[in-house]
Amino acid sequence: MSLWRDLKIATDLLKAGTPVAVPTETVYGLAAPVWSSEAIRKVFELKARPFFDPLIVHVASISQVAEVAEELSGLALHLARTFWPGPLTIVLKKRPELDPTITSGLDTVGVRLPSHPIMRRLIKSAGAPLAAPSANRFGKTSPVTAAHVRSEWPGAEVFVVSGGHSQIGIESTVIEVVSDNEIEVLRPGFVSIEDLHVACKAYSPEAGAAVGFALVESKKSPGHLLAHYQPAIPLVILPCSSFPLSAERTEEIAGLLSARFERIIAPVSCNLYLDPNPALAARNLYSSLRTLAERGEGFITVEKRDTNQLGLWTAIWDRLSRAATLDLS
Ligand code: TXA
Ligand code: MG
Repeated sequence: MSLWRDLKIATDLLKAGTPVAVPTETVYGLAAPVWSSEAIRKVFELKARPFFDPLIVHVASISQVAEVAEELSGLALHLARTFWPGPLTIVLKKRPELDPTITSGLDTVGVRLPSHPIMRRLIKSAGAPLAAPSANRFGKTSPVTAAHVRSEWPGAEVFVVSGGHSQIGIESTVIEVVSDNEIEVLRPGFVSIEDLHVACKAYSPEAGAAVGFALVESKKSPGHLLAHYQPAIPLVILPCSSFPLSAERTEEIAGLLSARFERIIAPVSCNLYLDPNPALAARNLYSSLRTLAERGEGFITVEKRDTNQLGLWTAIWDRLSRAATLDLS
């Protein structure tokens, strides 16, 4: 099917209030126009997502933010201008008329201006900001290709617009601008703490000194749970230099997992390779987890390294530690 035809179908569905799966540069999203409470409810239903977990709203321009949230100003505007279009979500005070289901009843809304041209075009053609969580069942690995999305809903109940492999491969960084001098990172992502430091410092020296990081499960980021992004077979984090795994060690880990899951986990393992270049490691992370999980038996291992976890590694290890059932590192 041609892209033009897909865009026409997706636009008509969105205008009629039906959710559509869309490509973004981070991961694929399951999009609904913000005005359609029916479509928003359907997104939660399709994902089996609890209503306490708010959705990110996607806009096509900085001026469109005002349709869903307070207008950007000060440090928030500076950060938007620095990182948009791109993988940064800014939590802002919501407009009172915005559907509270989108924000899980919070008085704030997470807003992002994505860079993927197909996503931006769809926001424009649908004529409204699009609320879109990642297009996967709740708690599972996010999709980075159209085929991944189709495997989440094989009954074809979701129309998917194909836009190639997501270039970044992990979800956006979520921040809250606490004051004009202080921001807090609610979820690490492609925009690193270091990137944010530099950008805040360019705004003012005081702001540069106050970039906080809510690394633990935060009430402020209700959906970023300790168990999240889980592949279909268990993932185990091992200490550095664990490979090759001996047969005894593999049996031992399978035993621990079998006890944890109360079912037999086969003593077969496959290793998740992390590219030393963090941009490539992030881009391939979810694809590799899905490919390894397709084997359907045993467990996946990953070796803990890059313990200083600077830059993008913070986000990669945040996802891996939440995706893992066992951390033996
Ligand atoms: O890259 C991304 O952000 C992707 C693409 C599709 O844009 N979306 C995504 O959405 O990852 P989702 O639903 O999987 O994660 C959204 C998370 C929530 O779980 C929550 O932690 C945080 O964003 N969030 C959203 N609105 C918030 C708010 N008002 N306050 C605090 N955190 C919020
Ligand atoms: Mg998600």
